[in-house]
Amino acid sequence: MTLTAKSVARVTLVSALLTAVAGAAVIGASPASGAASTLGAAAQQSGRYFGTAVAANKLGDSTYTGILNREFDMVTAENEMKMDATEPNQGQFSYGNADRIVNQARNQGKRVRGHALAWHSQQPGWMQNMSGSSLRNAMLNHVTQVASYYRGKIYAWDVVNEAFADGSSGGRRDSNLQRTGNDWIEAAFRAARAADSGAKLCYNDYNTDNWSHAKTQGVYRMVQDFKSRGVPIDCVGFQAHFNSGNPVPSNYHTTLQNFAALGVDVQITELDIEGSGSSQAQQYQGVTQACLSVARCTGITVWGIRDSDSWRASGTPLLFDGGGNKKAAYTSVLNVLNSGTNPGPTSTTTTTTTSSNPGGGGCTATYSEGEKWSDRFNGNVTVTGTDNWIVTVTVSSPQRIIATWNTSATWDSANVMTARPNGNGNTFGFTISHGGNWNWPSVSCRVG
Ligand code: XIL
Repeated sequence: MTLTAKSVARVTLVSALLTAVAGAAVIGASPASGAASTLGAAAQQSGRYFGTAVAANKLGDSTYTGILNREFDMVTAENEMKMDATEPNQGQFSYGNADRIVNQARNQGKRVRGHALAWHSQQPGWMQNMSGSSLRNAMLNHVTQVASYYRGKIYAWDVVNEAFADGSSGGRRDSNLQRTGNDWIEAAFRAARAADSGAKLCYNDYNTDNWSHAKTQGVYRMVQDFKSRGVPIDCVGFQAHFNSGNPVPSNYHTTLQNFAALGVDVQITELDIEGSGSSQAQQYQGVTQACLSVARCTGITVWGIRDSDSWRASGTPLLFDGGGNKKAAYTSVLNVLNSGTNPGPTSTTTTTTTSSNPGGGGCTATYSEGEKWSDRFNGNVTVTGTDNWIVTVTVSSPQRIIATWNTSATWDSANVMTARPNGNGNTFGFTISHGGNWNWPSVSCRVG
C-alpha cells in the first residue's frame, strides 16, 4: 500500500509517533506545519533562529521595540558588549547598556549572541596603546571577566572578530593583538571556554563568503588547525555585509557547507545587503536558502531592524523601511523560512550499497528523494537482487523516522531502522522529521 501525501496528512502526529515506536508497517506523518508569520517563528520550524543587532539607546522607541519583540528570537548588542564599552578603564568593567539589551531580550524569551570579546577595533584608549605581554594579559583578562560576568546567558560568543587580512595573502591582519604572537586567537578561545563552558565559541569575520577568496581559505585553514589540535572552537560567524562591490557569491552554500564539514556550526551574524526592491529581495532569498541548505547553519542575524537603524543607512540594507514597514526583502526571507522553496536535501553521500551473503546472493538498495516539507521529507528505497531483503536505514541526529510504508520496520536505536518486506514489493518508503538536518540517510542491504 502506498500512502498519498493527502492521506498521510490526515493521520495525527501522536498516532504517527506511537506507531513509529511500535514499528508498524504503514503509518502516517504529522500534518504540514502552517506558514509562520514572523521571522523567528518561521526559522524555528527548522530548529534555527532569526536575530537582529540591537542598540540600547533605541529600546525606548516603541516602533523599534515592537518589531524587535514581534519578529526576532536572537539578539546581538550592536556596540554595547565591545571592549571599549565593557572595559572603558583598565580593570573597571561597565555593563549597564549591555545589560539593558541582555535583560530586555531574555525577558522576552529571546537568546543572546555575545559580540565581541577580542578585536583590533573599538578597543578602549588604554588598550590601543599597549603591546607585548601586558597587552596579551589585558586581553585575556578582558575575555575572562566579560565571559564570566555573562556566564549562562549567552548562546554564542564572537570570541575573536576580524583577525584576518583582506586581499590575496590569506594571512592574519596586522594589529596590536596579532603582534603579541600568532597564538593570541587560540589563547582567547581557551580563556573563553574556561570562563563559560556553556556558550558556543565562534570566530567571526567579513569577506569570508566567497569560497575562492584567499581570506576565506585562510580562516578555513585556521579552523581546521584548531579542530585538529583541540582548540575549543564551536562555530564560525559570517558577517555578510553585502553591496554591489561585494555581492552575495554564487558559491555561498559551498562556503558554509565546507566550514560546517570541519565540525563547527556556521551562523550568518551581521547580514545586510544594500539595494532595494526585487533585486535586494532576491539576494536575501539566496542567503537564506544557503543557510537552510546547510544542516549546521544554525541561524541568521540581520545587522539592525529598520533601514534608518543601519550603520550603512544610506544603502537601505535591512528588512524594514524607516517607517518600520516590511520590505520586499522581508517577504522573501519569510517565504524561504516557511519554505515552499526550500532547496531540501543537497547531500551527495553514497546512496547505493550492495552486500553479498555467504551463499552467493546479493542485493542493492537505492535511495531516492521524495516530497519535502519545511519540517520533514520523504525518501524511498528500492531493492534489487532478492525478494528476501534486510535493509538498514541510518539517519543522523536530530533526524527521526516518523513514518514508514510498504515495509515491516524495527528500530535498533532511535537513529537506526531495520526494514524487511511486508508483502508489498521491493520498494518501501519513510518520512524523516529533519530538525534542520537535510542530509540523506545512509542505506545498506543484506539478504535475509
Ligand atoms: C558597527 C556598528 O554597527 C556601528 O554602530 C559602529 O559604529 C561600528 O561597528 N563588523 C562588526 C560589527 O563586527 O561590530 C560592526 O558594527 C560592523 C562590522
